[in-house]
Amino acid sequence: MPALGARYLSVMPSTTLSPRGTTARSTTIALKLLMAVTGLVFVGYLLLHMYGNLKALTGEEGFNEYAEHLRSFGEPMLPHGGLLWIVRVVLILSLIGHAYASFKLWSRADSARRTKYAAVKSAATAKWMRWGGVFILLFLVWHLLQFTIVKISVNPDKQGANVTSNPYELVVASFQVWWMVLIYVAAMIALFMHLKHGVYSAQQTLGWTSSPKAHVRAMTIGVALAALIVVGFLIPPLSIAFGLID
Ligand code: HEM
Repeated sequence: MPALGARYLSVMPSTTLSPRGTTARSTTIALKLLMAVTGLVFVGYLLLHMYGNLKALTGEEGFNEYAEHLRSFGEPMLPHGGLLWIVRVVLILSLIGHAYASFKLWSRADSARRTKYAAVKSAATAKWMRWGGVFILLFLVWHLLQFTIVKISVNPDKQGANVTSNPYELVVASFQVWWMVLIYVAAMIALFMHLKHGVYSAQQTLGWTSSPKAHVRAMTIGVALAALIVVGFLIPPLSIAFGLID
């Protein structure tokens, strides 16, 4: 593990670039900015979503009221579900931007390595971010099918119309199944790693790590935000799995 100063210095540009190099560098910066801004949109959404899920601790009425409130918010200025659709459109656009920038940066980093260009990020971190990101995306597809699009009940003892039309019962029935809890715990571990580095990286792109002290602060914010989101998300599923909520 290199000393902090060495790690900090390793991210500083160290070469004088030709005009072609300058264009390539501006494109990389634009892509990183797109990653950072869309990533911060996700962090905002995750904080709100995590807070909303904690309503499950208050019981069925509190949770379902909250789910309904998400849909009726802003009425009559907005149609029923209007705010939810605005949020969905922002999230979908952010996801497209985030995925596009990550694939572009991924292929640029690979060709840079082939031409022995400066490698900024450690290979292990880059691997975590790429494959962790792909895993989170797969988790999201399953998650949306399960809770929003199809509302799949995976609990054979609690199947039926009652479960699938009641958000609270769907969530409780799901996390009474051990392998479902396992999927979510695995996804939350991946999310922790991704957020820890992503939140730090976004601050670096935005120029908030320009001194060793700011660098430590950015790392601390990354770990703290990732831990807050992941622990908050895990409380309802684990409370259900251990029978504290039913
Ligand atoms: C333990 C963790 C989580 C639980 C228990 C959970 C639970 C839920 C539930 C119950 C819904 C349906 C809400 C409703 O229709 O009223 C939902 C929707 C959703 N969740 Fe999660 N969630 C978790 C983690 C995540 C994570 C990590 C992400 C993103 C990576 C995420 C993204 C979404 C999205 C995008 C929706 C759709 C919202 C909509 O447009 O209707 N969730 N989640």
